Amino acid sequence: MTKGVSGVIAVDDGGYSTCVITKNCAESFPSVKGLYGERNLTSATGKYDYIVDYKGEKYVMGTLAKYDCELPIQMHTDSKQNDFFDLSVLVAIHQFGYLSNYLITSVPIKMHNEKEKEGRILRLKGSHTITVNGVTKTFSINDVKVAPESAVAYWIAEPNGKNRFLDIGSRTIGFATTINEFGDVRFIDSESGTIFGKGLEALGESYNKKALADYVCGRLSKMWRPEDKVFVLGGGALDIELLEYISRYFPNMEVINNPHMANAIGMYNLGRFVYNIS
Ligand SMILES: Nc1ncnc2c1ncn2[C@@H]1O[C@H](COP(=O)(O)OP(=O)(O)OP(=O)(O)O)[C@@H](O)[C@H]1O
Ligand SMILES: [Mg+2]
Repeated sequence: MTKGVSGVIAVDDGGYSTCVITKNCAESFPSVKGLYGERNLTSATGKYDYIVDYKGEKYVMGTLAKYDCELPIQMHTDSKQNDFFDLSVLVAIHQFGYLSNYLITSVPIKMHNEKEKEGRILRLKGSHTITVNGVTKTFSINDVKVAPESAVAYWIAEPNGKNRFLDIGSRTIGFATTINEFGDVRFIDSESGTIFGKGLEALGESYNKKALADYVCGRLSKMWRPEDKVFVLGGGALDIELLEYISRYFPNMEVINNPHMANAIGMYNLGRFVYNIS
């Protein structure tokens, strides 16, 4: 755990990576996990190698599961109310959080409804005991805020006027529209949403960069104009070739600095604002 006993922790628990921001750290580890099973040669040596004991079950997680797991679990459910995502958050707090945590986490825009938010809050709020690499810790999550993925990147720089955000993730493609007029911020629901099943891992073998750009940008062109300012984020924004195809539709696009961490950075800024602590 980091210095201090209490603070805001942002955990963007994606299908591919879990990004964590506190006032002391900016970290990211693979979200992949699997059951520990029968093993003879396993030890956690890398920084993001995790052997986890939680509620009577033993898992491998992080880079250890990425490189050495026979049945790595990918979770392509619309809802994040399951152990896969809970474990990402709890391991993040065990490694980088506080004794007493003010959590801000995320769900896709399309799932940003009361039922999903309340479900995540119910699962995460309270006291937790979890063992990672042999170290058992008990900590509390005092409060949980659930932010909309992709749109939350607005809080990185709070740009003026009308702006678009395109989040290319592993499970999902998120798209969001915000308007900031004289400090009055609006999120435009009718011009925002989530495309499930077309993230880069979700497409698997059928992933073709031009086809994905045509599919996504073609759909967006119903609502978004070619001259719009489009900020691109998510791990997919690191793919230069994919960006080139997207820029054919939206020439004013700009990749957010550190796009892979962008949701988590926006979440931390929003978390500091709503909790009024850092
Ligand atoms: N350097 C890179 N170049 C190209 N693609 C990359 C790079 N780094 C990561 N990616 C791709 O980005 C995707 C992961 O993006 P990201 O971490 O934003 O997903 P996620 O937030 O975990 O997923 P989701 O939000 O859909 O649950 C992966 O499919 C990965 O292949
Ligand atoms: Mg994501």
